[in-house]
Amino acid sequence: KTCHILGVPVQTGASRKGCIMGPAALRTAGLPDTLRQLGWDVTDLGDARPDQYQNVNHTNPAVHHLPDMVAWTSSLTRHALQMARTCDVPVFMGGDHSMSAGTVAGIAQHAAELNQPQFVLWLDAHTDLHTLHTTTSGNLHGTPVAYFTGQTGFEGLPPLAAPVDPHNMYMMGIRSVDPEEKRHARDIGVTVFDMRTLDESGVIRPLTHFLERVEHAGGRLHVSLDVDFLDPEIAPGGGTVVPGGITFREAHLIMEILHDSGLVTSLDLAELNPFLDVRGKTAHLLTDLTASLFGRHIL
Ligand code: ARG
Ligand code: MN
Ligand code: MN
Ligand code: MN
Repeated sequence: KTCHILGVPVQTGASRKGCIMGPAALRTAGLPDTLRQLGWDVTDLGDARPDQYQNVNHTNPAVHHLPDMVAWTSSLTRHALQMARTCDVPVFMGGDHSMSAGTVAGIAQHAAELNQPQFVLWLDAHTDLHTLHTTTSGNLHGTPVAYFTGQTGFEGLPPLAAPVDPHNMYMMGIRSVDPEEKRHARDIGVTVFDMRTLDESGVIRPLTHFLERVEHAGGRLHVSLDVDFLDPEIAPGGGTVVPGGITFREAHLIMEILHDSGLVTSLDLAELNPFLDVRGKTAHLLTDLTASLFGRHIL
């Protein structure tokens, strides 16, 4: 099986700098070789670059670095579409989570070409469901889900070829949601397994339920993993960490179950900020979690 890896050194969607170093840290932690050792045919495509910057007008004065997001989104949409056409599982090493506006847009376009429904599993403390009009922080890593599900309020961003149906959008690990995002999540019908749900039921039941839906629909599955999905004790290398996250064991179990399903067709690794990390701890954890997702077994 083939895997193409693309570095996405974008950091302008976050308030704190450092995600630009994410791809370098994941390579330093040995991500490409780790997947090779598991038997994958891996090609590291190097780092992507944004398209030419354009002036973009916007009315919300909080929003910053919108031209950067536009330029990255158009570039990454093309890259993701091309990668999905040419390998079994594209992996995108971020980069802040604004990267997913482009990666998921391109991946979903490929699913549409194949006439298969695109599902997304969003592993995050946050829903990232703001539009350009609702964000109060102005940090555009808080907006990709609203963009790639085709919500209005993204003037200036590339039009979507194939929006992801919000009913095919599942989130786990959620524990920090802004008021406007709550409204949005309810209105568009994404499924949110928040931390309270996971506390009550564990991670296996919601995940299995979701995977059965993907399987029965004959769908393709994109997994978007934000560092802050994980508890800050085990993953300190993120700019928007929230206490009470997914544990080490839960995270590996989720990845192992995803692997065994055989359904995962693409992956984002988002929000790694090596400048805030402690001796590569978070970079190594993301590498090991990716290994579990790609078939590493204890025995
Ligand atoms: N909801 C907050 C905001 O919009 C936090 C977003 C954090 N997003 C992320 N991808 N880490 O600013
Ligand atoms: Mn996120
Ligand atoms: Mn987050
Ligand atoms: Mn297995």
